[in-house]
Amino acid sequence: MMKYVFGLVLLVVGGVVAVQGGVLVMRWNDNMTQTARVMPGERAFAMPAGSVPRSGGELYYPKEEREAAAARKNPVPATLESVTKGGALYVVYCTPCHGAAGKGDGLVTPKFVPPPDLTNADLQKGRTDGYWQSYLGVGGAIMPSYGEALSPEERWHVVNYVRSLAQK
Ligand code: HEC
Repeated sequence: MMKYVFGLVLLVVGGVVAVQGGVLVMRWNDNMTQTARVMPGERAFAMPAGSVPRSGGELYYPKEEREAAAARKNPVPATLESVTKGGALYVVYCTPCHGAAGKGDGLVTPKFVPPPDLTNADLQKGRTDGYWQSYLGVGGAIMPSYGEALSPEERWHVVNYVRSLAQK
């Protein structure tokens, strides 16, 4: 008789332990999906209007504010050094469409919308440095934006280079 009671007690204890263990495993597995962790890119913290980075930088002008962007003066003098820097960046980012000389005959153009001739005197006259610098940052109707690839300062260098391509 005691044998059965002992067996029964063992079964009950074993059962309780098994259920508890199961609950623990369940919670362990589930909890990991319900923690207060933040996934990358899940939350965006908007900067207050007019914020600038601590180390230099400049205000961001979206496409809609191109006129304000165009009114800015070019803070980077078109020295040989600046034009050389801009030229190196131009080769990497712009030649595929605009061509080495800015004529709009890059390798991509037969399969893409032909870009304007950047050496054109009327175009060069009609645009301010500020306009182009912002244009490179946010892109055009078709032209991609380079705001992530090129820093604001690098874009001024590129503008200085594009100016050097102007027809004399
Ligand atoms: C994928 C092709 C492509 C690349 C790469 C590209 N552009 Fe353009 N670009 C265009 C097209 C197309 C236009 C005509 C305007 C439009 O549709 O966006 C244009 C227009 C321009 C204009 C004239 C804007 C105006 O109306 O005053 C400038 C200046 C310019 N690009 C400079 C650059 C520079 C500098 C780079 C490299 C940082 C570059 N582009 C890279 C395709 C490109």
